[in-house]
Amino acid sequence: MRTGGALREQVYYVLLVSALIVKVKVGFIGCGGIAKLHADILSKFEDVELRAFSDVEKNRAEAFATRYGGRAYGDYREMLEKEGLDACFICIPPYAHVDQEILCAERGIHIFVEKPVALTLEKAVEVLNAVRRAGIITQVGYVRRFAESYAKARSILLERGGRVGLFEAWWIGGVAGGPDHWWRRRELSGGQLVEQTTHLVDLARWMTDDEVAEVSAFFEEELLKDLPNFNIESASAVIMRYRSGAVASITSTCAAQPKGMSVGFRVTARNLQVMSGSSWWSVIVVEGEKSEALEVSADPYTVQDRHFIDCVKAGRESEVPYLEGVKALEITLAAVKSAKTGQPVRLPMAVY
Ligand SMILES: NC(=O)c1ccc[n+]([C@@H]2O[C@H](COP(=O)([O-])OP(=O)(O)OC[C@H]3O[C@@H](n4cnc5c(N)ncnc54)[C@H](O)[C@@H]3O)[C@@H](O)[C@H]2O)c1
Repeated sequence: MRTGGALREQVYYVLLVSALIVKVKVGFIGCGGIAKLHADILSKFEDVELRAFSDVEKNRAEAFATRYGGRAYGDYREMLEKEGLDACFICIPPYAHVDQEILCAERGIHIFVEKPVALTLEKAVEVLNAVRRAGIITQVGYVRRFAESYAKARSILLERGGRVGLFEAWWIGGVAGGPDHWWRRRELSGGQLVEQTTHLVDLARWMTDDEVAEVSAFFEEELLKDLPNFNIESASAVIMRYRSGAVASITSTCAAQPKGMSVGFRVTARNLQVMSGSSWWSVIVVEGEKSEALEVSADPYTVQDRHFIDCVKAGRESEVPYLEGVKALEITLAAVKSAKTGQPVRLPMAVY
């Protein structure tokens, strides 16, 4: 076990190395859909070198290396050992989180991790402890926090909204991928709530600046059970109570018709309401007879990745550290537990 002094030294060392970085050497673990979006963005940053890519399907890493430069690996352990990375984007499916974050932490490699951060709370807390020990910079891909419209609406809500009474959100979408996709299997993805609606669960915490104290949930499991290889919930209703006493409901389904999809939220506070607008990133603030539409002027994914790289260069903790991923995961797992047992679940479920 490290002493307090040794731990401080490690943290100072990580911060000193960060301060010396001119071009951030980035690697990837997982070269699928979301990794491509990040790599496209990072390839346009002049202070980033896309140094290496790894994927269990090595041909995917090779395709990335051909497109963005850098070397390709089938084994991320070899990549982490050989490449002298400053930062690593971990873009793997939920079931695949094993030791990637911990190996990065042990080498002082800062990490950007896609949501959900794991499939179990035990794994997430193990990683949380490792990244805390190492003092590395961490960020989780809750991209809504980097949409100007969401951030401005949050400031207005927290500054002059008064007491929050109700948070509502809904993810009325479709089934991701084809019959062989990991998304359809609970043991691989965690289900729609854990994998996808987690964005709205994070929003429920961040937008209201409140913590969830209790969760009750109900799952519908018949609607889509005829689909091949499908064993996740077809629909879910989650009811939450915040520590402040405010209440929330989050509903999801992956049975929507293509033209019937809708993802949104609404917060009702004493003095105003904040709610999603007509386009993906727009947010409306309603106060009495007035209503103001807030939009974004920059792509939130680009703002998000820029924030991480800036934090790495400055040796500064990001605004969405790994802990935030653990908290969102805990709420979604509490909902799964409640749906299974028929009982409400009180939080926190673990000490961390
Ligand atoms: N923030 C967002 O808006 C957003 C959007 C899409 C996906 N995601 C998240 O990103 C993660 C990945 O999703 P995706 O859509 O890119 O999935 P994907 O299936 O398209 O890609 C995952 C890649 O990881 C590789 N992989 C699997 N296990 C691996 C391992 N042990 N080591 C290295 N590579 C491994 C696969 O071969 C595949 O190429 C998921 O957790 C998902 O929830 C986030």
